[in-house]
Amino acid sequence: MTMTAESEMKSVADAPVAAAPSAEPILKVSNIESYYGPIMAIRGVSLEVPRGSIVTVLGANGAGKTTILKTISGVLDPLKGTVEFEGKQIQRLDPDRIVRLGLGHVPEGREVFPFLTVRENLMMGAYIRSDRAGIAEDLERIYGYFPRLKERLDQPAGHLSGGEQQMLAISRALMNRPRLLLLDEPSLGLSPILVKEIFGIIRRVNAEEGVSMLLVEQNARMALETAHHGYVLEVGRIVMADTCERLRESKDIQEFYLGARDHGERGERRWKRKKTWR
Ligand SMILES: Nc1ncnc2c1ncn2[C@@H]1O[C@H](COP(=O)(O)OP(=O)(O)O)[C@@H](O)[C@H]1O
Ligand SMILES: [Mg+2]
Repeated sequence: MTMTAESEMKSVADAPVAAAPSAEPILKVSNIESYYGPIMAIRGVSLEVPRGSIVTVLGANGAGKTTILKTISGVLDPLKGTVEFEGKQIQRLDPDRIVRLGLGHVPEGREVFPFLTVRENLMMGAYIRSDRAGIAEDLERIYGYFPRLKERLDQPAGHLSGGEQQMLAISRALMNRPRLLLLDEPSLGLSPILVKEIFGIIRRVNAEEGVSMLLVEQNARMALETAHHGYVLEVGRIVMADTCERLRESKDIQEFYLGARDHGERGERRWKRKKTWR
């Protein structure tokens, strides 16, 4: 995987966006506002995921990335705005209903069940299904993507490394056969090699199975190499939107997200001093 990651990355980045621009997007978020009590975390965000594509939302810690995903998956209800999945408004539905519609969510921090085995965690992912043959088939497919999980099927998930838990969290969501997958910072806390491996698999699942993806990340470099379209989120607002190819070439992105991406104090200060895209 790591040997071919570079070349794979390049070919995906160069590939045309999967869906035609005129096609109805699989996800359309319009003007959502979400609050924690009196605190407005999302301030009128609109975004689209074309069917078959990978879309990323980049943003620093606290920008509101997790809140956007929670609002889409029904964990939070927006005060204003609409969320349309495959043409149907879902912003007031319970998370359980939304999962059944084919929208999966891999939450921040993975949230696997630590005392259940890997196998049991995977089966939890298939709880809405009763087609045994299909489930067995999907398990095999997932072992193909993540052979390491197959080796650890009977171990408690809490014994897995961070990277393996991320693989398990993604696999668990795939067990519902989602058509759209929300991914909340899959790179968080993982070594660069594991990050490459996991993003490589995200690209494969997208390309081989046509699963659309909405990926939120602080790791701008990896996200921009993986996704087709990108949005930049700052304090609850979208401040830029473009193809990832053009975002990678943007001076502001290079300076604030790629050059200063290790968000040391220096990067933060420069960020505050010069914001040209407002
Ligand atoms: N449960 C909560 N209660 C109150 N404020 C919250 C809660 N969760 C997040 N926030 C605030 O909402 C904003 C957006 O948070 P979040 O969506 O988690 O950002 P990100 O995922 O981009 O790091 C932040 O200012 C954060 O402090
Ligand atoms: Mg977050």
